[in-house]
Amino acid sequence: MRAQTTRNHFDANPGEPVTANDRTRFDIPALVDHIVERYHRTHLRELPYAIGLARSVEELYADDPNCPIGLADHLTAMAEDLDAHQWREETMLFPMLRIGTPHCLNFVTRRMMEDHIDTELQIIRLRRLTKGYRPSFEAPFCWQALSALCRKLERDLREHARLEDEILYAMLPT
Ligand SMILES: [Fe+2]
Ligand SMILES: [Fe+2]
Repeated sequence: MRAQTTRNHFDANPGEPVTANDRTRFDIPALVDHIVERYHRTHLRELPYAIGLARSVEELYADDPNCPIGLADHLTAMAEDLDAHQWREETMLFPMLRIGTPHCLNFVTRRMMEDHIDTELQIIRLRRLTKGYRPSFEAPFCWQALSALCRKLERDLREHARLEDEILYAMLPT
């Protein structure tokens, strides 16, 4: 029951957004659990579906001047990078955070935040390839669904990074 109440506070949508000033309301293990379940697992579950959909759209509508050529490969690269980044967090940083807030983690958290900057650059390319997630009104349903999935991916990635950069990592001693 307590875990459910805590998770609702972490979600940016719906409800009031979590800000860095709120971080004293949370304990680190609960926040780590939320990030892993809500974001790590969700990204890796949804990305393969988006990649498959992108491959179909690229094959079926290659002649369309708005076809997002290269999107499937870009999503594949994003999935690989994200898998590696999340593995680093789940095997190196998060286990240490669960047992305390040691002072020796600055180097590791800096590396994770650099990964987040790389992800931000990938999001910019994702937006460009999908033309801002706005297919034409006549675009077939699979293309519309692909755009919606990519839009959700951006929203999830941004909130995921924000929770880590502004709250989880901000709780660590410097
Ligand atoms: Fe993460
Ligand atoms: Fe991260």
